[in-house]
Amino acid sequence: MSDNPMHEHSMHTHTCDELRAEHIGQEVTLTGWVWHRRDHGGLIFIDLRDREGLTQVSFDPDVADGAPFRVAETVRPEWPIKVSGVVRHRPEGQTNTRLHTGEIEVLASEVAVLNRSKVPAFQIEDDQALSEDLRLKYRYLDLRRPSMMANLRLRSDFTFAVREALHKRAFMEVETPALFKSTPEGARDFIVPSRLQQGCFYALPQSPQLLKQLLMVGGVERYYQVAKCFRDEDLRADRQPEFTQVDIEMSFVEQDDVMGALEDVLADAFAQVGVQMQTPLRRLSFLDAMNTYGTDKPDTRIGMELHDVTGIFADSSFRVFATAANTEGQAIKCISVKGAGGWARSKIDKLSKVAATFGAKGLAWVAFREDGSVNSPIAKFFSEAEMDGLKAECAIEPGDLVLFAAGPWQLTCEILGGMRVHMAEAMGVPREGHDFLWVVDFPLVHWDEDRKAYAAEHQPFTQPEEADLDRLESDPLTVGSHTYDFVMDGYEAGGGGMRVHDAELQMRILKLLGFTEEGAREQFGFLMDALEHGAPPMGGFALGLDRVCMLLAGSDSIRDVMAFPKTTNGNDLMSGAPSPVDERQLRDVSLRLA
Ligand code: AMO
Ligand code: AMP
Repeated sequence: MSDNPMHEHSMHTHTCDELRAEHIGQEVTLTGWVWHRRDHGGLIFIDLRDREGLTQVSFDPDVADGAPFRVAETVRPEWPIKVSGVVRHRPEGQTNTRLHTGEIEVLASEVAVLNRSKVPAFQIEDDQALSEDLRLKYRYLDLRRPSMMANLRLRSDFTFAVREALHKRAFMEVETPALFKSTPEGARDFIVPSRLQQGCFYALPQSPQLLKQLLMVGGVERYYQVAKCFRDEDLRADRQPEFTQVDIEMSFVEQDDVMGALEDVLADAFAQVGVQMQTPLRRLSFLDAMNTYGTDKPDTRIGMELHDVTGIFADSSFRVFATAANTEGQAIKCISVKGAGGWARSKIDKLSKVAATFGAKGLAWVAFREDGSVNSPIAKFFSEAEMDGLKAECAIEPGDLVLFAAGPWQLTCEILGGMRVHMAEAMGVPREGHDFLWVVDFPLVHWDEDRKAYAAEHQPFTQPEEADLDRLESDPLTVGSHTYDFVMDGYEAGGGGMRVHDAELQMRILKLLGFTEEGAREQFGFLMDALEHGAPPMGGFALGLDRVCMLLAGSDSIRDVMAFPKTTNGNDLMSGAPSPVDERQLRDVSLRLA
């Protein structure tokens, strides 16, 4: 017997991924699901599948008076069975080098049907196009597919590695409540009516942010938690209403202490799943990330950096450029796409629709053909000096396509940031290995046009840059902050910062964000109180566990690494949640539907 823990307290002696030539001649027992069944006139072969792999079992009418054979004739895909028999070499021509167990098979001498199965809604195979709705409705079948089982295993391994890495570094795991008060992370809250306090509601935490700060005031010093977070927002491929963070906080630290600890923990955990992360990680400021990549979560494997050509077109006779170049806060930027210069005009024109999805009003372009000619709707406005300036700035070669955006600085960056990724995909730019970096120094606040108010860039408890504090009220948009986002493969995979630990400063910030003193006391009185009781300097971080696992699994949807995710409408297709509740349940919490 091997020392595989899978065998302890189990019906089987081996898993379906375990038997090799060295086991030939041994009597074994396997359990699993009937995967494929092949009737070879006189002999029946069943691929038996468990979570580890598959083993071929053969049924011979001459063995054990044909009893196992007669059972094998009746079994159907996805029936769980238990099989005992002797391991033997596979028959001539049936060895399969791609399978771990491809050299052997088990000749069944005993078989027990453990249950039957309806005909499954889809075959349990990886290589097939399946509707995701069907997969989610029958998630328990979907999870049987080897790729999904591999995703769950990867997530388990990585989560364990993170826990171990944190535990080793003296972080304490502390659980915090799910029934709590609103914790502002910028999304809408899920609320839960209270029966005992009629008319009052809990909010499910959008993150344990306030609680972990209180744990620091409580003296925990190094905290972590694999925490469920709840945010009622519009869902996307990388967003779920309920997701998991590895939430971390430290006290008596400065920013570089926290970032150093995080790098050690992350590098350690990634190494456990076979991914090398070089430390120290590269740090890009928010400003540089926007200017160079057009996003605060750049994938630097792509190249194709943004060029600022505002200066070149300051006197342009193309009105759109001249206006942008001469308006405060506006810019003209471009990217140069290798190999797209030969695209047909109609194909290039279609790109403006893509740019519009990023907020562009238009997408000016210049195509440098291989034959040296230039094709462009706007090049006729360019002077020779402007054209030379553009070519020099972008190191233009024949075959390059230059795409321009002109307008407000941030929007211009974001449009080209979006086009950069779109063109990388269109041109099949390879993205190998993983790309890790920090984006740091986010502004403390931005102007929220919808609410006509300043809004926290990260969250309201972020420590401002000390040197900027005198401008907090007079010029808040220029105030920096102690913040850092962990960017992996072009995704925001985590974020954090240093916290305000001074009650007075916290009140100034809440007022900047539009709270009255009473309003702030009402919502955050417990925090303000805690800050007034000797709160230590502190900082922390939260890793988006689902997103990291998605990237490790090479998937583009976090649903693929969650056992029971919801659809983009927030539905659980398996259970039917959310669903109406009965009158009585509503009456208990004194609610009536409008
Ligand atoms: P933040 O809001 O940036 O920070 O969240 C941290 C990380 O969580 C992941 N994430 C999500 N993943 C899936 N679905 C969602 N809806 C979703 N929303 C966020 C992202 C993100 O980087 N309390 C702060 C952290 C701190 O300052 O310590 C916070 O929650 O990967
Ligand atoms: P127009 O003169 O408006 O027809 O625009 C000429 C070209 O400039 C078209 O290709 C437009 O898509 C493009 N364009 C218009 N506005 C902008 C803008 N703000 N940034 C970049 N290109 C633009």
